[in-house]
Amino acid sequence: MIFKKGEIFCGPGGLSLGAKQAKVEGLDGEVYTIEHQWANDIDNWACETFRHNICPGDPESVIQQDVRELDIESLSPIDGFSFGFPCNDFSVVGKHKGFDGEYGPLYTFGVRVLNVHQPKWFVAENVGGLESANGGAAFFKILEDLEKEGYVLTPHLYKFHEYGVPQKRSRIIIVGIRKDLGLEFKVPKPIYDGTINPFVTVRQAFEDKPIKEDAFNNELTRHNAKVVEMLNYIPPGENAWYEGIPQELRLNVKGAKLSQIYKRLHPDFPSYTVTGSGGGGTHMYHYAEPRALTNRERARLQTFPDDYEFLGPKEQVRKQIGMAVPTLGAKVIFEAILKTFAGIEYEHIEPKWKAVLQDPKPKRNRKNAYSKTKVD
Ligand SMILES: C[S@@+](CC[C@H](N)C(=O)[O-])C[C@H]1O[C@@H](n2cnc3c(N)ncnc32)[C@H](O)[C@@H]1O
Repeated sequence: MIFKKGEIFCGPGGLSLGAKQAKVEGLDGEVYTIEHQWANDIDNWACETFRHNICPGDPESVIQQDVRELDIESLSPIDGFSFGFPCNDFSVVGKHKGFDGEYGPLYTFGVRVLNVHQPKWFVAENVGGLESANGGAAFFKILEDLEKEGYVLTPHLYKFHEYGVPQKRSRIIIVGIRKDLGLEFKVPKPIYDGTINPFVTVRQAFEDKPIKEDAFNNELTRHNAKVVEMLNYIPPGENAWYEGIPQELRLNVKGAKLSQIYKRLHPDFPSYTVTGSGGGGTHMYHYAEPRALTNRERARLQTFPDDYEFLGPKEQVRKQIGMAVPTLGAKVIFEAILKTFAGIEYEHIEPKWKAVLQDPKPKRNRKNAYSKTKVD
């Protein structure tokens, strides 16, 4: 069975590559896969990267346009749908405007796709900060809107390093399955716990299979001599505020001292979260060499294969990589969806939020309709 998938806010294709890699064989030998049908993003370079890697034979299936102007009705039929809606207004790092920001309301276009196309399943993705935006109201409003389109939801906070990604990255992922199908999606059980099954480390990500010097997107960033000298004093896992840095090399910063500034990775742990930032010491820094990571190294931490070539200027590529869903994490979730449809049992855990009642009174405060389970 092939599920044709549409996607909005497709970015460089992290979610889509995971979907493409997912494959499940049913008990009767039938193979379940997901095939790209169409995608949309406002960003030109993200669309170019997506076309180049996900659908080189069908570049026109990627529509570069503001979703607010996208003709949703005219898009071809789909069986599955994914959308990692922009997180700018939900991220705790930003101003946390939620629905009051420019980006917050964009999720409604995902709701519109569900309304028009009624795919069998969908995957929605956002940052963990979504839970607390607008005092918690935004998250429940989004759940309510998605549910209203006729879907049973399984919202969960996935910690991707527990699924083999060499990076600490937590994201809320809501899987919805159309109600009439009578199926229930279950959160796949994490494989890594950091004790009996140690997390995959940065060293493993970089050294098990060293990156070829001429790999795509592997250009070095030039630093001035003072930065290199300072980095030489910073041990793995420490940042610009490390006490062993001589006074003359220290940064002259008043006010908040952000912990990610000139922070060097620790080789024996998963990395801290890969973001799109770079200037002012916000690149991620190598543990063994006094320098920023190359984009290819960032892509490794995001579990993109080395033959996935990102298109665009170096800064644009850094942004694309930073906002993507790690491919491996996406694959785990899409594979669990395929198993759900193939009727294959898999080990699972309780979702972080669980629908505890179907609301009998439409006007009730829906905050009560989802309760947090004890999973943290
Ligand atoms: C978090 S990223 C999605 C990453 C993607 N899910 C992946 O795994 O690679 C959000 C994307 O939304 C896009 N975006 C932001 N505003 C948009 C708009 N008004 N219309 C269409 N796309 C938009 C951004 O360009 C960005 O690529």
